[in-house]
Amino acid sequence: MIIGVPKEVKDHESRVGITPAGVKALSEAGHKVLVETHAGELSAFTDDAFQSAGAEIVGSAHNVWGMADMVVKVKEPVEKEYGFFREGLVLFTYLHLAPLPVLTDKLLAKKVTGIAYETIRDKQGTLPLLTPMSEVAGRMSVQVGAAYLEKEKGGRGVLLGGVPGVPPAKVCIIGGGIVGTNAAKVALGMGARVKIIDLNLNRLRELDDIFNGRLITVASNSYNVARATAESDLVIGGVLIPGAAAPKIVTRAMVAGMMKGSVIVDVAIDQGGCIETAKPTTHSDP
Ligand SMILES: NC(=O)c1ccc[n+]([C@@H]2O[C@H](COP(=O)([O-])OP(=O)(O)OC[C@H]3O[C@@H](n4cnc5c(N)ncnc54)[C@H](O)[C@@H]3O)[C@@H](O)[C@H]2O)c1
Repeated sequence: MIIGVPKEVKDHESRVGITPAGVKALSEAGHKVLVETHAGELSAFTDDAFQSAGAEIVGSAHNVWGMADMVVKVKEPVEKEYGFFREGLVLFTYLHLAPLPVLTDKLLAKKVTGIAYETIRDKQGTLPLLTPMSEVAGRMSVQVGAAYLEKEKGGRGVLLGGVPGVPPAKVCIIGGGIVGTNAAKVALGMGARVKIIDLNLNRLRELDDIFNGRLITVASNSYNVARATAESDLVIGGVLIPGAAAPKIVTRAMVAGMMKGSVIVDVAIDQGGCIETAKPTTHSDP
């Protein structure tokens, strides 16, 4: 198979769809790997490193997409990549189609076979290609949320851990899966008071055991979510219904009931978001 790896073009995306180790494994299995020039630059993988591993360096995205049987990427294609779609092409990447009907229609119209990383399940039924991203995003959500709680960024001016004589911040995490668990680890590590809300009571039992009572578990319903969001400095959204748009758990009215300067980080935004008022933004225009 000819496998093409174009340079990512989404705003501020610095990752690349393959490492030199991946190129070597595919080459050894008899495939030909085409990597767009400078594709790995922002991830500190040079063209030379890819070439030494067996890749052929190709000068343009047009040629990578055009010559490949399968394109391997990180993010869903953006508009300027739609013109590369053609019948028979296999596209292996995070697709997150639930909130992207235009992209979905384009893929269907061109009969592209899209394999979305985030929907691939292993034998245990878990999502092995989503999990590492959820671990990163969950941990970062607290780090980013803490920064936006600073006065300078328009926040309440609250320190997650408080100080002696001043209580710690309240963090409410909606969804107790991979994102939620990793967010809880960092929030607890920074000294916050943490509440996790999930629909699955067995998951809440596990979390209660894992964290040995250091966080509060709450069953997900609109009454509990409204109370928790109203009292929280930082709300993190991390619910998932695999392959579907995220349910809107936090309504516009609940957001209006939150404290001035409190912060929301909706990690589920790739599936449309679980906070009614959330919309995708970019690093250029956060
Ligand atoms: N933005 C990013 O960079 C990024 C990265 C990774 C994951 N994500 C997204 O984060 C979200 C969570 O991913 P995950 O890997 O933690 O999923 P997960 O399946 O591990 O966890 C989701 C949790 O949500 C719970 N849930 C479902 N409906 C609920 C409801 N009504 N109320 C409360 N909880 C509910 C489930 O019981 C489950 O425990 C997904 O939308 C995923 O796509 C985003």
